[in-house]
Amino acid sequence: MLILGVESSCDETGIALYDSAAGLLAHALHSQVAMHAEYGGVVPELASRDHIRRTVPLLREALGRANRTLADIDAVAYTRGPGLAGALLVGCAFAEALALALDKPTLPVHHLEGHLLSPLLSATPPAFPFVALLVSGGHTQLMRVTGIGRYELLGETLDDAAGEAFDKSAKLLGLPYPGGALLSQLADSGRPGIHELPRPMLHSGDLDFSFSGLKTAVLTLVREQPQPLSASFKADAARAFQEAIVEVLVAKSLKALRQTGLKQLVVAGGVGANRQLRAALDAGARKKGCRVFYPELEFCTDNGAMIALAGCLRWQAGATPKPAGAFAVAPRWPLAEISGGGQ
Ligand code: KG4
Ligand code: ZN
Repeated sequence: MLILGVESSCDETGIALYDSAAGLLAHALHSQVAMHAEYGGVVPELASRDHIRRTVPLLREALGRANRTLADIDAVAYTRGPGLAGALLVGCAFAEALALALDKPTLPVHHLEGHLLSPLLSATPPAFPFVALLVSGGHTQLMRVTGIGRYELLGETLDDAAGEAFDKSAKLLGLPYPGGALLSQLADSGRPGIHELPRPMLHSGDLDFSFSGLKTAVLTLVREQPQPLSASFKADAARAFQEAIVEVLVAKSLKALRQTGLKQLVVAGGVGANRQLRAALDAGARKKGCRVFYPELEFCTDNGAMIALAGCLRWQAGATPKPAGAFAVAPRWPLAEISGGGQ
């Protein structure tokens, strides 16, 4: 079976072709980061318009790379939600219209399920069951994953997501959008132990997170400094911020492994690209006899490959693809709604 995957939930247009037997054949991606940078964040209307411009050329690119034609496609998977309503509508309308024209069914996919399953695209994939730490711009969740569609929420952020905290703190330090990766680079040159920032909910006893207080602590630190901020202050503060957030993410992930008795941790979402987080998780897990799996770096952030994969795996697991034509997007869509059970 050949599945076309379409991702358009935020500021990346992703198209991919996934073959159930041969794996990922090709994927093509356009990031809108440069376009939104001018405004300091994603402008939803501009995002939607850009998705419209990108989908067809990206589809041609992916088909060319995979050496396939439209006639080879068996079903079209696309991100139904969660995400920006207008941006989702572009990908969804494109996918449904294409499937209707090809007389093929569609597979609406939950964006977070795509992230969750993205490590399965790597050469050494994890096997079920595993604990998943999902750390993206919009979500921070720990889940017990026992199979396709079997996701049990263990804990989540009560306010800001980890990626959001990275981006907001980066902005406070004067870094351009999207600041997460830039803040992380800056932290590499910062000195440890110069600034002390809180570790929110580190000892809360549960698996929930809270990051808005950390961002406020960065704001307070910035306000105490002479302006404009010096380069060394920015680097030291970035280091302090990253150390605080990484410590909390690692402690809660290890606690989730302990609590569930599972030995495998999967990290997905954009913050999963963070090198310090990876190093700390690897070291912590090794001590406990556990192993950590990451998606390939190119599949950490939004992409079409994870959507094609999720659609394909759902289909193989028994989900019935829907006839093309009628559709609705789900800008707010709890992952629990697509979960068949936790144990
Ligand atoms: O998964 P993703 O592409 O988008 C959502 O679905 O939200 O994640 C994007 C988030 C952004 O907040 C970005 O700043 C963050 O991932 N991010 C990073 C790094 N690379 C991307 N955060 C920390 N360190 C990084 N290296
Ligand atoms: Zn995402």
